[in-house]
Amino acid sequence: MANSEARKTITFITGANKGLGFETARRLIELGQTVIIGARDIERGQAAAKKLGARFVQVDIANDDSVANAAKDIQSHEGYIDVLINNAGILGAHGPVETLTGPEAIELFNTNVAGIVRMTHAFVPLLKKSEHPVIINVSSGMGSFTLTHDPKRVESTFAAPLYTASKAAVTMLTTQYAKGLSDIRVNAADPGYTATEFNGNTGTQTVTEGTDAIVALATEGPEAGTGRIIDRFGTVGW
Ligand SMILES: NC(=O)c1ccc[n+]([C@@H]2O[C@H](COP(=O)([O-])OP(=O)(O)OC[C@H]3O[C@@H](n4cnc5c(N)ncnc54)[C@H](OP(=O)(O)O)[C@@H]3O)[C@@H](O)[C@H]2O)c1
Repeated sequence: MANSEARKTITFITGANKGLGFETARRLIELGQTVIIGARDIERGQAAAKKLGARFVQVDIANDDSVANAAKDIQSHEGYIDVLINNAGILGAHGPVETLTGPEAIELFNTNVAGIVRMTHAFVPLLKKSEHPVIINVSSGMGSFTLTHDPKRVESTFAAPLYTASKAAVTMLTTQYAKGLSDIRVNAADPGYTATEFNGNTGTQTVTEGTDAIVALATEGPEAGTGRIIDRFGTVGW
């Protein structure tokens, strides 16, 4: 691609109508990227896109057809993307661990885990048209064996089997896709405990702090490497 150095980086973010996804979009636009806002709800997505001055594409990551249609839409409008940020996620069922059910586990894994598989499947062809393609999966320290067993860390103070298992799977998906997709850098970000609707705004970081790792992965050079999980302070133990 002769003019690839001159063209703007195009980034697609799922779940960008609020929280960490919205703040990531705001920061990347400020840094000069062309950001496409993904959201499952048309009204919420359009409202966010209007605020940010971005294009909105509807995507429900829990639905095969919706993800395939989002990829078709971007194929026909932009033709490619450079960065895919798999941010959308849910906390899912929680409470006394013995009350959690199989259907609740399937619902959570369908969004947080199968959602990333769906998005990767649909968007790799668009990413392969980029000179330096990047996938960023928004995982969590709650999916880290190291952090959930470190008494000094807030992640060790919760018992949340479904969410933590889903994020451990997101981290493993990241390292496995990194192995299998040798021409795409695939990395994961742990935002850290951040005040959003996700946790009833109990998180101790601001959304700007919570997006530092995502923004770093979306703006670093191609030499930075693949198969990593980082937070805003550096490498996260798995
Ligand atoms: N906040 C934290 O402390 C924290 C820490 C570590 C990791 N994370 C991770 O960071 C990511 C973003 O979390 P957040 O704190 O920004 O949460 P949030 O404010 O609840 O935002 C979540 C976003 O995901 C979207 N979403 C949920 N299910 C979806 C689906 N099936 N298809 C498309 N979009 C969907 C939501 O859309 P609606 O508005 O339509 O519901 C919303 O835009 C999640 O993956 C979360 O697990 C958060």
